[in-house]
Amino acid sequence: MPGPSFQVDPRCDRYCVVGNPIGHSLSPRIHQAFAEQTGERIDYRALLAPLDRFRETALEFFAAGGRGMNVTLPFKEEAWAFASPRAASAETAGAANTLWRDGEGRYHGDNTDGIGFLRDYLGNHGGSLQGQRVLVLGAGGAVRGVLGPLMKQRPARLVVANRTLSKARALYERFSPLGEISIYEYGALVGQQFDAVINGTAASLGAELPPLPAGILAAGAWCYDLVYAPEPTRFMRWGLECGAARALDGLGMLVEQAAEAFYIWRRVRPATGPVIELLRAE
Ligand code: ATR
Repeated sequence: MPGPSFQVDPRCDRYCVVGNPIGHSLSPRIHQAFAEQTGERIDYRALLAPLDRFRETALEFFAAGGRGMNVTLPFKEEAWAFASPRAASAETAGAANTLWRDGEGRYHGDNTDGIGFLRDYLGNHGGSLQGQRVLVLGAGGAVRGVLGPLMKQRPARLVVANRTLSKARALYERFSPLGEISIYEYGALVGQQFDAVINGTAASLGAELPPLPAGILAAGAWCYDLVYAPEPTRFMRWGLECGAARALDGLGMLVEQAAEAFYIWRRVRPATGPVIELLRAE
C-alpha cells in the first residue's frame, strides 16, 4: 500500500522524481517554481526507490493517483523498459526520464534530456553546434540522452571518446545509423581539435577528470559539463585552464529538461530564465 510519502493536498495533481540517491535533487524546487509561476496545481516530490524496486515503486505511485514521474539515476533504462508507448527521443536514447499515465492506463515514456541540453546550449547561452567539431566524453546514459538531438544539429564532426572502448562501440552501433559519428579512446585524441567539448562522464561527480590530452581545444572552444555543481567542476576548470572561451555547467539543462516534462504533463510552458537565476542565487 502507498506510504505516507504519497499523502498530498487532494486538490493538487501528483508528480515526483524517482532516483537512488535522490536527497539532493533540485527537481522538486524547480517544479514548485514552475507551478507558482504558471498557477498550475501540482504537488511534486522526491521519491527514493530501492535499487531493485524501480518498477514496483512506479506502479505504486501511479496506483495511488500519481500523474507523472521524472526518473533519474540509476533508473532511466528501467523507466524506458517500463514505458509503453515511448516517444522517439526515449527510443533513440534507450532511456526515459519522463513518464505519465494516460486515461487508458498506459505508461508513456519520453526523454527530455536532449532537448534540455540544446535549449540551454543554443538558446540560453547562444551557442552553436552546426558545422562545429564536437567531442562528447563518455558513453553512458547521460550521453545517450543528448546524442540524438545533438546529431540533428549537423556538427561538422562528432567524436565520442570513452575510457572503455567496448561501451563506445555499443554507442556507435546505436547511433551510427542516424548520422556521422566516430569513437576514440582518450589517448587517440592527440593532435585533434574541437570547437565544443561536452562532458557526459560520471567523472565530475567524483571530482575527477577524463584523461584528455593537451591541445584539443580549438581557439574559442566551449566546454559544457552535463552535471551541475555549486562550484565549477573539475572539467570546467580544465577547460578554462586550456583556454576555453566558455565553461558551462548543466544547471540550465536541468531546468530546461524539467520545463519540457512540465509541458508534456500540463501543456503549459514555464519561463525557465527566472528559475535558472533563482537556483543560481540560492
Ligand atoms: P550515466 O548514466 O551517468 O552516463 P554510466 O552509464 O555509468 O552513467 O556512464 C558513466 C560514464 O562515465 C561512462 O562513460 C564511464 O566510462 P566507462 O564506460 O569507461 O566506465 C565514464 N566515467 C566514469 N568515471 C570516469 C573517469 N574517472 N574518467 C573517465 N570516464 C569516466
